[in-house]
Amino acid sequence: MTTTRHFLRDDDLTPAEQAEVLDLAAEVKRDRFRFRPLEGPRSVAVLFDKPSTRTRLSFTAGIAELGGNPLVMDAATSQLGRGETIADTARVLERQVSAIVWRTAGQERIDEMAAGTTVPVVNALTDEFHPCQVLADLQTVRETTGDLAGVTLAYFGDGANNMAHSYLLGCATAGMHVRVGAPASQPPDPAVVARATEIAAATGGSVTVHDDAAKAAAGADVLATDTWVSMGQDGKDTARYEPYAVTENLLALAAPDAIVLHCLPAYRGKEIAASVLDGPRSRVWDEAENRLHAQKALLIWLLERSP
Ligand code: CP
Ligand code: NVA
Repeated sequence: MTTTRHFLRDDDLTPAEQAEVLDLAAEVKRDRFRFRPLEGPRSVAVLFDKPSTRTRLSFTAGIAELGGNPLVMDAATSQLGRGETIADTARVLERQVSAIVWRTAGQERIDEMAAGTTVPVVNALTDEFHPCQVLADLQTVRETTGDLAGVTLAYFGDGANNMAHSYLLGCATAGMHVRVGAPASQPPDPAVVARATEIAAATGGSVTVHDDAAKAAAGADVLATDTWVSMGQDGKDTARYEPYAVTENLLALAAPDAIVLHCLPAYRGKEIAASVLDGPRSRVWDEAENRLHAQKALLIWLLERSP
C-alpha cells in the first residue's frame, strides 16, 4: 500500500525529492504544455480562506495547463466558511478531485485536511509556512546560481512569519546557508529553527538568526523580504522592522552580484525600497512567474512520481 504524499511544509520533501521537483520545474518551464497528468480532465480543488492574486492565478492556470479542471472556491462562498468541518469537507472532496490545494490560517487546519483524505494536499500558504512560494524562489535562485548548495540567502523583516519559516526549512533542505535578520522581539519559531538546523547539518547548509541586519546581509548571494503586515495582522506596529528594510544600503553589503527576491505583494518604501524592487538586481517578476512552473512540477511529482 502506498501512502499519500502531501506538501504541507517545506520539509515534506527530502533533499533528493526537492531537487527532483526543481529539475522538473525547469523542464516544465522549457516545455510548458508537454505534461498532461490531469488529462480527462481530472479536477483539483483550490480553496482560499484568505485573499490571493499569484497563488490563485498560478494554480488555476497550472492545473488547466496540466490538462485538468481547477475548482476554485473561497471560504466566503463555500460551506467550509459557514462551519462545515474540515474532516467532512475532506471526505467529500476526495470523492471528486485528484488533489486539494488550500490557503488557510493555522497549520493545524491543513494538517487535519491531509489526515482526513486519500488525495494529496498542498499548502498554498498558512500562517506558519508558504512552501509553494519557496519552491518557486529556489527555482529562481537556481536560474542565477546553477547549484543551490552553498548559496547564502538572507531574509529580512518579520522573523515569526510564514516566509521566514519556509526559507529556513526549504533553504536548509537545499544545502544553502540561510540567515534571518529580524528584531529580537519577532524571532522565527524556535522549533522551526531547530528543525532547519537539523536538516542543514545533513545537507551541508547552515542556519543563523541575527538582530543586526548588516551582519545578516554581509556577502549574501540572495536578499529576500516580505510584507511586515501579513494577512490577518492589520493594525500591527511596524516601526521595529524599519532597520530590516531592503534598501540600497543593505544591498551594498551583499555579494556584488546578489539578487533580490520578494514573494509579493510588495509595499515600496516599507520592507523594500522602490529602487531595489524595480532595480537591476531584482528577480521578483521571474519569481512570480516561477510559481506556475514550480507548482505544476510539484503536482506532477505528487500525482505521478512520488514514492
Ligand atoms: N506571493 C503570493 O502568495 O501572492 P498571493 O497572496 O497574491 O497569492
Ligand atoms: N506573509 C505574507 C505572505 C503573502 C504572500 C502573508 O501571509 O500575508
